[in-house]
Amino acid sequence: MDCTDSSAVLNTQGVRDAVRVLEGACAQLIASIAPAQHVMLNRSFGGVDPACINVALTTKVADQLDAGPKPVAELAKTAGVDAAKLGRVLRCMAVQHCFTEVEKDVYANNKLSVCLRSSENVSGLLGFVSDDVNMGLAHLAQALTRREWIGSSNTNASAYVLAHGQTLFEKATVEAWREQRFSRGMVAWSDIHGGTDEIAHVYPWSTVRDDTTFCDIGGSVGHVAMALLKANPGFRVVVHDLPTVIEEARKVWQREFPEALDEQSVQLLPLDFVKQRPLSGCNYYYLKHVLHDWPDADCVPILENIRASMTSSGSKLLLHEFTLRDATRQRGAVTAGSAHAPRPLLPNFGAGVLRHHLMDVNMLSTFNSAERTLDDFIRIGNAAGFQFVRIWEGGEVPVLEFTPQPVDAFVS
Ligand SMILES: C[S@@+](CC[C@H](N)C(=O)[O-])C[C@H]1O[C@@H](n2cnc3c(N)ncnc32)[C@H](O)[C@@H]1O
Repeated sequence: MDCTDSSAVLNTQGVRDAVRVLEGACAQLIASIAPAQHVMLNRSFGGVDPACINVALTTKVADQLDAGPKPVAELAKTAGVDAAKLGRVLRCMAVQHCFTEVEKDVYANNKLSVCLRSSENVSGLLGFVSDDVNMGLAHLAQALTRREWIGSSNTNASAYVLAHGQTLFEKATVEAWREQRFSRGMVAWSDIHGGTDEIAHVYPWSTVRDDTTFCDIGGSVGHVAMALLKANPGFRVVVHDLPTVIEEARKVWQREFPEALDEQSVQLLPLDFVKQRPLSGCNYYYLKHVLHDWPDADCVPILENIRASMTSSGSKLLLHEFTLRDATRQRGAVTAGSAHAPRPLLPNFGAGVLRHHLMDVNMLSTFNSAERTLDDFIRIGNAAGFQFVRIWEGGEVPVLEFTPQPVDAFVS
């Protein structure tokens, strides 16, 4: 726990599988053994955690502790806040192993708290979730019971919009620091879920042409495309995103991979994928954690725009998204993922896949959208003129491969 080297991560597939079982087992054990009221009360207080994380980020406590342990009085003075109050927040975090209280009212960083340092991309993700997302979640019951929104598939009919008065992407467009925080968070998101280079390993790129063109739609600053290009130097990659994000992407590529800009092996192109078609004629069109931001009614036109850009019959669509699994042991159910969890765990590993379900409720709250099952993706793909080919597993997040249906089979 006291290790503060964030690179010392045990992140092999074997460890990830073991952690999934352990997380599921620990949560199931507590739910089975602890008094029900105790369990439920702890969960009702779940909002305290993001509030504390947000305080620690705002007061830059983890940055301040980079040089070594410090008394809370000093941390509070530097941050310009009340020492007794900050101390109570840190104490609540320390009992859950984020920060270590090394002696009375003196705190040190540890394995968890180093994630809060502003130099870590993950701090952008934690800031975004504990602040923007959390404010939306507090309005979820109000959004779901609002009479005129019942049955709505409009992305504006969301708890996030109730809390913030505009959609997440509208808010990010007008406030640059939010956009930067979100973009850093997206890099961290990929790092957490199999790495930015996961697509380079999960898909069999060695079997495709050396000069393959890969178009990452909603690709943020292009971190995934960059990893793929580094692994396959003959490829040409295109990154499409909103104009403000593409501006940020240009800075990132200039800093991290300027040769690709000079050699024009990357194109960074602004696009509104709801209204416009991506660059035509690419071999691969790739969407990673994009469709989950959109209700079904919006996913279909986004995919139709992509299909219309596919000039080659060999063009493929790759969707890289969480794929929810059933929590029952039904035989023959179409599920993504390999074996069921060992009994008596829930068959889908329960809390071992909690983040997928937290994200599903987050998507409901933030965009009135959803994380989806494999069946859902096949249904949406078919509606946009795509045929499901197969699922590629082996990473933390599966890749679903589709091809365009022949034009005469196209159903819009
Ligand atoms: C959840 S992020 C995923 C980013 C990236 N694919 C990844 O996995 O890290 C969704 C991305 O879609 C972009 N986006 C949202 N609305 C868009 C639109 N209408 N046109 C183009 N990009 C959009 C956002 O700016 C953001 O970069």
